[in-house]
Amino acid sequence: MELSLGPLRLVIEHRALDGDGGPTLRLYEAAAEQRELLRFDCFEKTPHWHLGPWGPDRISRLDPADDNVAWTLEQLRGDLAGLLSRAGLESDGQIADAAADEALRRVELAMRNPPAELDDLSIDRLRQRTGEKWTRYPDDALAAWVADMDFPVAAPIQRALQRSLDVGDLGYPHNPSSADLPSLFAERAAERWGWQLDPRSVEVLTDVVQGIFIGLLGYSDAGDGIVIQTPIYPPFLGAVQETGRRVTESPLVRGAERYEIDFDQLRAAVDPGSRVLLLCHPHNPTGRAFERAELEGLAELVLERDLVVISDEIHADLVFPGHVHIPFATLGPEIEARTLTLSSASKAFNIAGLRCAVAAFGSADLKRRFLSLPRHARGGIGGPGLAASDAAWRHSQPWLDQVMAYLDENRRLLGRFVRERLPGIVYRAPEATYLAWLDCRALELPEGPYAFFLEKARVAISNGVSFGAPGEGFVRLNFATSRAILTEILERMAKAVDAR
Ligand SMILES: Cc1ncc(COP(=O)(O)O)c(C=O)c1O
Repeated sequence: MELSLGPLRLVIEHRALDGDGGPTLRLYEAAAEQRELLRFDCFEKTPHWHLGPWGPDRISRLDPADDNVAWTLEQLRGDLAGLLSRAGLESDGQIADAAADEALRRVELAMRNPPAELDDLSIDRLRQRTGEKWTRYPDDALAAWVADMDFPVAAPIQRALQRSLDVGDLGYPHNPSSADLPSLFAERAAERWGWQLDPRSVEVLTDVVQGIFIGLLGYSDAGDGIVIQTPIYPPFLGAVQETGRRVTESPLVRGAERYEIDFDQLRAAVDPGSRVLLLCHPHNPTGRAFERAELEGLAELVLERDLVVISDEIHADLVFPGHVHIPFATLGPEIEARTLTLSSASKAFNIAGLRCAVAAFGSADLKRRFLSLPRHARGGIGGPGLAASDAAWRHSQPWLDQVMAYLDENRRLLGRFVRERLPGIVYRAPEATYLAWLDCRALELPEGPYAFFLEKARVAISNGVSFGAPGEGFVRLNFATSRAILTEILERMAKAVDAR
């Protein structure tokens, strides 16, 4: 990666040299070809830096506590002009502070994120994982069900977890003050979605589904109606049933391009006993990233019928180009005051096993009612989850950008393949998430598509029936894997359909 800053050209490389390696940052004088002023070799074993490598070349060890990149950036942020003049920069071009801050921010992210090897997945290696995705089904079945990605996690997350192990940092965590996730979440919400929220309104919790359960217990009573848009991520149905609430169902309707909200049906379904709108936004499994007009339609109903909103926005970072995520709480102060937003780094950064999420309360009252469930009943939070979520949100965006570009291509591949080779299946490209909701009803498979593809194609995908009654005849396919594995999955499915 390369970028310009005033009279400078900055180049970041990820080098591997005889068992050593890591990111190298070179600062060149842009006007003088090849004149390298500074070089920082943030290697694992022999980290060092050069002052004036084009000529005088004074080499010194880096002097970091445990983070070479942080040390390097600290030197540059502390005295960029001084270092450059010691290195013999002759240009008198000024560098504005704001431009330097922004360039160094990008440099740091690039140094921390070597390109991820997303194509380089092996099924044997995936089967070594102990998580449920690759262990639940027999070894000859390819797994494309639960929402974990097959990709390795971002380098900054790997480093953070490795560091925890290296220093034996597995004791009781200091939650949440040491890993200030509420502030990080608030910063990210402002930067990505223009949502200004006070970090004091954010609590760290174990997982998003836990937040749904606690929210339902806090904001409704047994027998109350909970509005959910089916087909839906199965724990939504479980949460309503297991807390003794009642499902007020609003089925999304398949349109020509995407699934739509049927507002007439929804208005008729919401009764005086309805208390909560349990929103999945972006929506799993249809992949909808609801637009402002749709959200405003929901907001109007929420105010009219005095509902509380629990908005599960765990997929908010997985929105494809051409679509945007609009947090439900940003629709206005009255809406914010009645909205609990749940989120986590776990889906977008592939760390669901680490169990860490956040809850953002739109009002003190919502927070008080949520926290009335005693702290120990809410459960504790693990240090590795805090460290990994911190590394994800603070340092891992380049990894996510690369993954999103890869997923976008997978989404297209899936569309082309279904059109050409599986014409009996209807597929609406998701606007968000790495999940494809496949309508297999026209195939008229007597055993249902889930059992058919598992038995005949040896492909394990999610059974549409578990997403509620509208999921009958559907399956959900997780396409967050390498192109080679995805192609193999689709080939197996097409062959099984052809051989019927
Ligand atoms: C919409 C939605 N909410 C929540 C979760 C799970 O979140 P957690 O593991 O934090 O409970 C998922 C997982 O796929 C999901 O799709």
